[in-house]
Amino acid sequence: MRRREILGAAVAGGAAAATLLAAREAEAQEKTARAMRGVPSPKITDVSVIECAPQGSRLTVVKVTTDQAGLFGYGCATFTQRADLIKPAVEKYLRPLLIGKPADRIEDTWQMCYDSSYWKNGPVENNAISGVDQALWDIKGKMAGMPVYQLLGGKAREAIDTYGHASGNEIAECIDSAKKYIAQGFRHVRIQVGTPGMDGYGARNKNGPRIPSLHTAPVFEREAAMKRALALFEAARKELGPDIELIHDAHERYTPTQAVQFAKLCEPYRLFFLEDALSPEDIQWFRNIRAQTTTPLAMGELFNSPHEIIPLIQDRLIDYMRMHISQMGGLTPVRKIAAMGELYNVRTAWHGPGDVSPIGHMAMTHLDLSITNFGIQEYSEMNDLTLEIFRGAPVMKGGYLYANDAPGWGIEIDEALAAKHPFNRDNVLNGGWGEVRLPDGQIIKQ
Ligand code: CO
Repeated sequence: MRRREILGAAVAGGAAAATLLAAREAEAQEKTARAMRGVPSPKITDVSVIECAPQGSRLTVVKVTTDQAGLFGYGCATFTQRADLIKPAVEKYLRPLLIGKPADRIEDTWQMCYDSSYWKNGPVENNAISGVDQALWDIKGKMAGMPVYQLLGGKAREAIDTYGHASGNEIAECIDSAKKYIAQGFRHVRIQVGTPGMDGYGARNKNGPRIPSLHTAPVFEREAAMKRALALFEAARKELGPDIELIHDAHERYTPTQAVQFAKLCEPYRLFFLEDALSPEDIQWFRNIRAQTTTPLAMGELFNSPHEIIPLIQDRLIDYMRMHISQMGGLTPVRKIAAMGELYNVRTAWHGPGDVSPIGHMAMTHLDLSITNFGIQEYSEMNDLTLEIFRGAPVMKGGYLYANDAPGWGIEIDEALAAKHPFNRDNVLNGGWGEVRLPDGQIIKQ
């Protein structure tokens, strides 16, 4: 309408109006050019896999390369217990699907990859998809000239509060380990202790003669482990005081009713949360725990899909969701379930031990920076070699993790150096986990 009026005026002989029209058109064109600057749609030219083990754990990273010079991205696809299966899943199945496709359509690409196997939510497939997904977020950030947390809405906090892993064969050893974290400024610490003669979780288990058993495999006895953990909590509160936040991982080793008992017995020690009190197969039992205790509960690292945690969020049966982001299929699905959690006031505590690559740790850091329902972040120290290979990895200071402000994830990988540190092939199980049995020989969850 306006344009027609202006045109009318010009036709009517107003030379000034014609000049005005030209100026307006030039301005509109410039605005469009500015909006499009730097964002011609890049096409995917290659999808490759980087494997390395600078700290023992098998790390897998997917690299997506585009037709624009220097524009590529990295994504974490680490499934350390089945690491050799990820590379073929990426190279034989996702690569042919992705070559020639636009690199700037993250949601669309995720849905296409997810659906392309017809059967979905397997850990191998989801990790492979995560590698691609996170790489596309890295590319998107580089295109925008912004760190990914800016694309997610910007910072909701300055840095990421974390917890470290304190452990020991003996209670005193674990307390000493916790004190080291506290001295560094950590406000939260996970505590795990070995039980004499047994193979516990999270401690070295080299204490005393093995308990009697009918087999030679690693052995575990539930009651003894539970009593030992409670003794640790009591000592920790005495030695470390009331202010430090204590976390403990039950690692799904108790029976459901034992888990209810354990959560109740934890109450006097005011845990920050009790992790994996139950296995994914037993999540209906969370209702029983919730009805009987106020011990905060964290769950989710073994889930393969965001869908598995929906009932726990909906019924407010847990306090923290702690999925392994690459296991979920990457940042794209996880930010959706995180947003669902916000609406129910269920917070996050993503799985962040050494079997997440620094790219994966950075993806969690960016998500954590940008969401309101962040709870805590599990942290594990990266050695010098890891930091040399993954330049720009998140930085730990006083128990807080910091992202850098470089575009994308802000991490450059020294691929030549990574290649010099391949998976260790001496391990007979190739990085897989073995077995744990009760004294009578029955196998239990690890
Ligand atoms: Co755990």
